[in-house]
Amino acid sequence: MFIYNTPVEKLIALDNNIFLIKVLCPEIASVIQPGQFLNVRVSEGIFPLLRRPFSICDVEGESLFLMFNILGEGTKLLAKKHIGETIDILGPLGNGFNFQGNFDTAIIAAGGLGAAPFPYLIRKIGNTKNIKCFVGGRTSHDVIQYGMMHTQVSTDDGSVGFKGTVIDLLNKHLEETKSSKPKIFGCGPNAMLRALKEFAIKNNIECEASTECAMACGFGICQGCPIESTDQTDKYLLVCKDGPVFNVRDVVI
Ligand SMILES: Cc1cc2nc3c(=O)[nH]c(=O)nc-3n(C[C@H](O)[C@H](O)[C@H](O)COP(=O)(O)OP(=O)(O)OC[C@H]3O[C@@H](n4cnc5c(N)ncnc54)[C@H](O)[C@@H]3O)c2cc1C
Ligand code: FES
Repeated sequence: MFIYNTPVEKLIALDNNIFLIKVLCPEIASVIQPGQFLNVRVSEGIFPLLRRPFSICDVEGESLFLMFNILGEGTKLLAKKHIGETIDILGPLGNGFNFQGNFDTAIIAAGGLGAAPFPYLIRKIGNTKNIKCFVGGRTSHDVIQYGMMHTQVSTDDGSVGFKGTVIDLLNKHLEETKSSKPKIFGCGPNAMLRALKEFAIKNNIECEASTECAMACGFGICQGCPIESTDQTDKYLLVCKDGPVFNVRDVVI
C-alpha cells in the first residue's frame, strides 16, 4: 500500500450523476484485486480533509477505473477533474472477493452504485465460470449495467425490468440459480445486503458482500469503521482492513 500521484486520463459521464474516472497507475494496476478499494484525496487543498474511499471498478492495462456518483463535496470535486490533472490515491486497500473457489456460477447482485466493483470482478472471472448478473435500482436511472453480462434488471417502481427489489428478482430466478453450484457476490445499500444475507442463508448459497461505512484512514489505524462480527471471540472487525468484502455469515449487516 502506497500513495501515488496519478494523472487523470478520462472522465466519462455514464448518466447525469454517474461518472467513471480513469487514472494512470501501473503500480496499483498490476496488483489490485476485485473488491479492493482506493482512498482518494479529492482536492489539493485542505478541504475536504479526509480521503474518500472508492472500489476498484476496472483495470485496463496500466490504468484504473473508479465509478462514482455525486453525493457531496468530495465527489462534486472529483467530477470536475480535468484530463492531465493529478489525483493522489492511496492503495490498494482492503481484501478482495474470493473468486477462485469451488463454485461454477458467479451470481452478481448489485443495487444502485453497488455495481461499481463488478466490471473488474467479471473481467477477472472471465470464462472460468458461468456469470449471471442481477442489477437493481429504485428507478431506471439508478440501474447501472456498465460492465455487466447476462443481466436481469429490477426497479422498485417498475420503470424498467422486473418490478420489485433485486432480491425479489433473485427469488424469481431461484430455480435457475440453484441448478448449479452458485456463489453470490453482492454490493449495494445495507438494506439490500441484509435481505441478500437472509436469501443466501435460507437457500444455503455461499455469499460474499462488499460492505460500506464512513472511513477515515482506510488501513486499520483510526478504528473508525467497525462492523459487528457474528463470532463472539472477535466482536468487531474493521471494514477497511478485514473487509470491505465479508462472507455474509461472518458479520451483522
Ligand atoms: C470500501 C468503500 C468503497 C466505496 N466504493 C464506492 C464506489 O465505488 N463508488 C461510489 O460512488 N462510492 C463508493 N463508496 C462511497 C463513497 O466513499 C462516498 O460516496 C463518498 O465518500 C462520498 O463523498 P462526498 O464528499 O461526495 O460526500 P460527503 O460530503 O462525505 O457525504 C454526503 C452525504 O452522503 C453520506 N454518505 C457519505 N458516504 C456514504 C456512504 N458510504 N454510504 C452512504 N451514505 C454516505 C453522508 O453521510 C452525507 O449525508 C465507497 C465507500 C466505501 C467505504
Ligand atoms: S478507516 Fe481507519 S480503521 Fe478503518
